[in-house]
Amino acid sequence: MTLRLQAMRGDIAHIASDAAIVNLFEGVERPGGATGAVDRALGQLISELISDREITGKRGNNVLIHTPTGRYDGFVPKRVLVMGLGKQANFGADEVREVAAVAANRLKGIAKTATTIVHGAGIGGLDTAMAAQAIAEGSIIGSYGFNKYKQTSNESSDRLELMNVAELNDSRLPEVRSGLGLGIASAEAQNFARDLVNEPANVLSPVAMADEARQVAEDHGLQLTSMSLDECRSMGMNAFAGVAQGSHRPAEFLHMTYAGDPSDASNNVWLIGKSITFDSGGLSLKPSRGMVTMKGDMGGGAAVLAAMKIVGGLRPRINVHAVLPITENMPGGGAQRPGDVVQAMNGKYVEIDNTDAEGRLTLADALGYARNNGAARIIDVATLTGAARVALGTGNAAVFGNDDALVGSVMDAAEASGDGMWRLPLDATSKRLNRSNIADVKNSGGAPAGSITAAHFISEFAEDTPWVHIDIASVSMVTGNRRMFRTAGATGAPTRTLAKLVVSLAR
Ligand code: BES
Ligand code: MN
Ligand code: ZN
Repeated sequence: MTLRLQAMRGDIAHIASDAAIVNLFEGVERPGGATGAVDRALGQLISELISDREITGKRGNNVLIHTPTGRYDGFVPKRVLVMGLGKQANFGADEVREVAAVAANRLKGIAKTATTIVHGAGIGGLDTAMAAQAIAEGSIIGSYGFNKYKQTSNESSDRLELMNVAELNDSRLPEVRSGLGLGIASAEAQNFARDLVNEPANVLSPVAMADEARQVAEDHGLQLTSMSLDECRSMGMNAFAGVAQGSHRPAEFLHMTYAGDPSDASNNVWLIGKSITFDSGGLSLKPSRGMVTMKGDMGGGAAVLAAMKIVGGLRPRINVHAVLPITENMPGGGAQRPGDVVQAMNGKYVEIDNTDAEGRLTLADALGYARNNGAARIIDVATLTGAARVALGTGNAAVFGNDDALVGSVMDAAEASGDGMWRLPLDATSKRLNRSNIADVKNSGGAPAGSITAAHFISEFAEDTPWVHIDIASVSMVTGNRRMFRTAGATGAPTRTLAKLVVSLAR
């Protein structure tokens, strides 16, 4: 059961729940607004704890006060959680997400129901709907856990079940409701992406991932075409086929369509997600320590699928095409060899320098397919290179593109969603590293500028179509404690950015 959120008109002091959540900016000595009203109801207890420097208002600071029913006149909730919002100057939607995430975690095992005020909407100066959306996103994303294989864990039963979002002002209630609705849909989609990434590869085979896509299509009324490996070969996708041929498990190439503007096919964006359900490296086998997280090598495809769920709910006026070339990268007897040459769908010959540079091969044909089918803009999302993590740590995904306006749209959507992204260059010096002695291009440029040469490789298949490549190898999975995503494992990034981008491109 995921956390439920609902808007509620009324005074937080009078709404029964296990905990009331109020807030405070750093440096404030006398709380105002709803927090001030709670302070007065508790006989200035909050002000006192501020003087004592226990409540600091620093972002993430959280102090739990016990207020047993009947102890304070006219105050119903059993506890008060005072959340620090940090400095008012640095305050925005992502700070609201983080505060909501910390609060939801703080109440784990203590409260089943809570009531929160809309952080940032009053004194904070944020748009009410946006603040409500951020509360839903932060608390749902923040209280995620992947516990299906832990039979004795009580992590699920300890979780907060219901969050009321209290709004005193009647006229603001519709905004709170619509913000919550969008936030819930976005956050649940992101958690769906995390479930797919966290799911082990023995369970999430290529066909199982395709089944998930079929379910998404059915739930949201989207068209879905599935192509077998033989069909892919007959269309000329030998780069994709070369990767898939090393696994006994059948590959699938999926094309999902949300037709938001059926009268104008050219009004479109294509989202391509790397969907390697397990990356062993192929014959260029990975060392064990590098292989252990490779069930997550379909994080791009998972984020694209999750974004399609959001888009399918929002129904913007634009045609959105999702392409998932789904396969494993295995070293079976039929596997391709280093030194092989394959011809991609767009006609270019590729020398296989390293079978572990498989993602870009599958993307090459996905981009070829998108271009052949009238793509006006292409966004690809891929756990593509370990080098992205070397360059950027876990704070940002690496962004590349051949069109400044489209890159700008992606960066704006990422900023609004709180997904870290940093643009890297497609410089001519690095491009030379992909030169092959015997083919048009080779699939690996070696260690230096590893994320850049990978992007250069993909650009050979984007050709003159406006295109952005997002290398999420740095952010898709974390070992723990990265802001909102407290649990180790999948982050679901950049699900919400993709949905936001689609909406921003819609007519
Ligand atoms: N899936 C990996 C990239 C990756 C590494 C994702 C670590 C997440 C965490 C990709 O297919 C890969 O193996 N890339 C190689 C490229 C190299 C062979 C040119 C890499 O990064 O080492
Ligand atoms: Mn690989
Ligand atoms: Zn890979």
